[in-house]
Amino acid sequence: MHKVAVGILGASGYTGRELCGLVARHPGMELAFAAANGQRGQRARFGASEITFLAPDDVKLDDAQMVFSALPHGASAGWVDAARQAGARVIDLSSDFRPGNSPTAAPYGLTEIMRDTLAGAELVANPGCYPTAVLIGLAPLLARGLVRAGATINVNAASGVTGAGFAPKQELMFAEVAEDFRAYAPGNVHRHLAEMNALVRELGGDADVLFTPYLLPVARGILATITVPLATGLAHPAALWRGFYAGEPFVEVVDSPPSLRDVVHRNVVRLSVHAAANVRQPTLVIVAAIDNLLKGAAGQAVQNANLLLGLDERLGLPA
Ligand SMILES: NC(=O)c1ccc[n+]([C@@H]2O[C@H](COP(=O)([O-])OP(=O)(O)OC[C@H]3O[C@@H](n4cnc5c(N)ncnc54)[C@H](OP(=O)(O)O)[C@@H]3O)[C@@H](O)[C@H]2O)c1
Repeated sequence: MHKVAVGILGASGYTGRELCGLVARHPGMELAFAAANGQRGQRARFGASEITFLAPDDVKLDDAQMVFSALPHGASAGWVDAARQAGARVIDLSSDFRPGNSPTAAPYGLTEIMRDTLAGAELVANPGCYPTAVLIGLAPLLARGLVRAGATINVNAASGVTGAGFAPKQELMFAEVAEDFRAYAPGNVHRHLAEMNALVRELGGDADVLFTPYLLPVARGILATITVPLATGLAHPAALWRGFYAGEPFVEVVDSPPSLRDVVHRNVVRLSVHAAANVRQPTLVIVAAIDNLLKGAAGQAVQNANLLLGLDERLGLPA
């Protein structure tokens, strides 16, 4: 099989290392370069291959036909522009080109929902980890106009600590996190909120997201509960999701609420839907789980790259 030359910026971070591993095992991709910042010069093993992280300025961007940028937001945009000028197609994992974050938003890489707009794209804004879980959960309701007009969609979602990146932070030290559970960014101010609200509107909803994130003392995984006021009650809610995602290899609709064990190290969103009893207004509770580093980042990025390259979307991805 012909192999596409792939470059990874921010390769030494959590999502970057995940990308390095996926590319090393991908039958249609080969690594052209892997750039780091502070970790430049360090070596790392992925599968059978050992690589050395280069300094960003030592990278020849035109060595790659496809570039993944796993740089922090703010640092990514300039490198994305440079990679595009060098002729590469780019998947940006940062928020720099996502809807709600940029006046010049790129096509949004929520693959199952946006597939038609992605095929010819030169640049894809890969979704945030929380928005992936939340929007895959909400999309069938939004598509059918079933969210009550003017509603507040209440999202509570807990993430493992890799969601905060590799850079050391005191509040993420083992003794601060282990055996504890806490909310952060209270008051609906998390930076993923704009992205979720922009997509709710783009998918036809007239509703606001009220988002409370939590820090979970595990390495990886996100579990979200999404409470949605409905325009009208649904007799068999799960049937809507099963029909909407029929044939999708990376969305699993299940009867019992998913847990992190069901999804960690897999490129899937696994979700259940439940009509809420004991409330006056028709209300639905969606429980969605993902691996933040795979379906929430590197896995979805490779899924989008496969789509852009005309390959089977499943290629090189753990189902
Ligand atoms: N973690 C997640 O669950 C997740 C999910 C979805 C999207 N994302 C997004 O993906 C991106 C990467 O996240 P991450 O968690 O992998 O972050 P991370 O672990 O902190 O890694 C950041 C990477 O960028 C490099 N870097 C930092 N500043 C740089 C600069 N000024 N110039 C060049 N390279 C620089 C770092 O190099 P050194 O370490 O060598 O200094 C490292 O390779 C972020 O935009 C994040 O928002 C993350």
